[in-house]
Amino acid sequence: MEANTRPEPTVFVIFGAAGDLSWHKLIPALYSMFVDHWLPEKFLIIGTGHRRLQEDEFRSHLKAGVEKYARRTMTEEDWSRFAVHLSFMTADLEKPEVFVELARKLADQDREWNARANHIFYLGLPPGMVEPVARELARVKINLDRQRSRIVVEKPFGRDLDSARALNRSLTDLFHESQIYRIDHYLGKETVQNIMAFRFANTLFEPVWNRNYIDHVQITVAESEGVGNRGHYYDQSGALRDMIQNHLLQILCLIAMEPPVSFSADEIRNRKVDVLHAIRPITPGMVQTCAVRGQYGAGWIESQPVDPYRVESNVAPDSATETFAAVKLLVDNWRWQGVPFYLRTGKRLPAKISEVSIQFRPVPHQPFPATAVMEARPNRLLFAIQPEEGLLLRFEAKYPGPTMRLSPVIMQFFYREAFKSTPPEAYETLLLDVMLGDATLFMRADQTEAAWEVLAPILSLWGTGQPTDFPNYQAGTWGPEAAETLLAQDGRNWIMPTFLQCQEDTAVCRVTMVQT
Ligand code: BG6
Repeated sequence: MEANTRPEPTVFVIFGAAGDLSWHKLIPALYSMFVDHWLPEKFLIIGTGHRRLQEDEFRSHLKAGVEKYARRTMTEEDWSRFAVHLSFMTADLEKPEVFVELARKLADQDREWNARANHIFYLGLPPGMVEPVARELARVKINLDRQRSRIVVEKPFGRDLDSARALNRSLTDLFHESQIYRIDHYLGKETVQNIMAFRFANTLFEPVWNRNYIDHVQITVAESEGVGNRGHYYDQSGALRDMIQNHLLQILCLIAMEPPVSFSADEIRNRKVDVLHAIRPITPGMVQTCAVRGQYGAGWIESQPVDPYRVESNVAPDSATETFAAVKLLVDNWRWQGVPFYLRTGKRLPAKISEVSIQFRPVPHQPFPATAVMEARPNRLLFAIQPEEGLLLRFEAKYPGPTMRLSPVIMQFFYREAFKSTPPEAYETLLLDVMLGDATLFMRADQTEAAWEVLAPILSLWGTGQPTDFPNYQAGTWGPEAAETLLAQDGRNWIMPTFLQCQEDTAVCRVTMVQT
């Protein structure tokens, strides 16, 4: 994101604007951006949806979402100033005349503003609708301005390698690659971006960022929620497609990438895609030993009983969809040879928590007496992504007293303490970038395909062999037994997330990290 830059006049068209994404994420993000003066003065949101909604109905529906989810507190005054920028268009997207009308609206708006505005088309639509809508936009020629016309495509970007390739081919026939913004909201999270700042703006860490010093890396993205009202989508998707293919692999890329020469979008994306290409291909025979799937049964979350996945709404009663996935990946290059990256994600785990742990090797020689090192632990660096946003480094210190005794201690940095401000929501950062035409934090066509390629053998095996043991983990636990075995076979174990017990009491979280 370019600091202190306000975008040019912009019309932001949301397809599927009456849906959950708009209510929950997009409009609350745009509202906070508006309150913080990030939006241009000439700014219009056109929401489209197939329901017949009056403009004021549309606005009051969105207002409730802003009240609940926006980073900036909703005040009546700010809402009224914001709401005048919101309009609604009832649109059956199968009807070509809808797009003619849209093109006319855009042209009228340009005339009224006496400006050539950015036209951003946000496709928050079911996957099958993306290509047809892009085609209609092209048919009425609102795709032609390469500088100002952009489409934003939400995940899932395809459901496997072949469908992602086909979608990329169609979209790049209609729009130039530089106009296509494939969104992965994890890349907009402050701590995820901070991985690059941390690695490439400091001299301290890069020299040890390799196989000689790092034993392994763990990436955990856990959620305590179930599938909620998204069963319809999720049951066709599952944890591997929904989370690992995009969010977790992108985090892995940021941890493992080589230092970029510049901060240009293509340079960063080249370095990231290099990592995906270097991931050791998983052969069908390896799937058993490097991937684990699970599905939650009934259990308890925060002392409340919760239902098994198979009874959630819009989920098949004999569903074989995984709600938990863990994989072990190896990156075959000079820097990372032999260093495993363990990734896990799941729904109905004990807490909503995302963390990356870099586990360093033990010191090569321990000169201290055995009594001194009883509590000694190898260094560990932790990127806390959510709910806390920060960094923690565990190292050894001498315990105060007359004898030599080592004890692990934590050095920590928290965003909220250091900068005394709440970081923007990921969607705010990303929407601003789209308006500014900065694609650094978005996925390029080759990245999405390379990510599918990494997981293709697992998807294919899981797609054919029905699991016989589902449900195989109780809601409120850390996933199936086999996830433990995945690391135990390498003599390791999952690190208990550091912030599990510490949303209010950081002293407790210090202890948790020190002990594990
Ligand atoms: C989305 C997935 O991409 O990310 C959801 O489709 C998941 O299933 C969500 O719940 C998690 O995002 P966050 O920002 O809440 O961690």
